Amino acid sequence: MAEEKVATGIQGLDEMLGGGIPAGHILAVLGSCGTGKSTLTLQYIWQGLQNGEKAIFISLEEDENSIKKNAANFGWDLQPFIDNNSLSLVKLEPADAKNTVQKINSELPGFIKEFGAKRVVLDSVSLLSMMFDNESEKRTNLFGLCDQIKETGSTALFTAEVKDDNPNVSRGGLVEYVADGVLLLRYRESADSSEVQLSLRIVKMRRAQHSRRIKPYSITSKGIEVHTQAEVF
Ligand SMILES: Nc1ncnc2c1ncn2[C@@H]1O[C@H](COP(=O)(O)OP(=O)(O)OP(=O)(O)O)[C@@H](O)[C@H]1O
Ligand SMILES: [Mg+2]
Repeated sequence: MAEEKVATGIQGLDEMLGGGIPAGHILAVLGSCGTGKSTLTLQYIWQGLQNGEKAIFISLEEDENSIKKNAANFGWDLQPFIDNNSLSLVKLEPADAKNTVQKINSELPGFIKEFGAKRVVLDSVSLLSMMFDNESEKRTNLFGLCDQIKETGSTALFTAEVKDDNPNVSRGGLVEYVADGVLLLRYRESADSSEVQLSLRIVKMRRAQHSRRIKPYSITSKGIEVHTQAEVF
């Protein structure tokens, strides 16, 4: 039996994924600043809302208003979906680490289930990880969080920042192992260094056949578009 796929709503990407993300997976979206991680996850949420699915967007970076503004910039009006209880925007305070971590561990799984969210976004896991004092705590918590989210049956995207000196790996170096799938967003310079192009590739996707091509994408007023017919520089 073919596994159920959850379409991201980003056409070229869904094509590369062989239809979408396998249901129940956690997909890590890695990229340096401005590569469109938040945009991609918002588009994923927007697609779900269009399908009549419920969604939760958890941000450690931006408050509810700023998330709504970001979405509106792409023509996605979130308010009606918040009003009819299809969408919940959650802002977690990195400053209040202890409380936040406790909240995540004790309340999040129940909240996802109760809310009935089919799609969950955590933006970003890098900021979440910064709340922990040492590697072993980071590890334990990230594994725990993944288990808990998986238990809810929802399909989740975690954004993560990459290392300054290596844009192929996450800052914490952990999320790509914990996640079922990894999507890498990158800047590529043209040969004469006069231009940069955005490109993406699927690094891994458990239990799925996927493209291994590197494809250019752009961010427009309608969100992210992957150009599967085009080649990178
Ligand atoms: N309406 C638009 N048209 C074209 N490009 C846009 C538009 N809105 C935003 N962008 C592009 O998207 C980029 C921001 O994308 P986004 O915030 O999703 O990136 P990010 O990877 O989440 O960044 P960060 O690491 O800072 O959180 C902007 O820097 C800009 O280049
Ligand atoms: Mg962002």
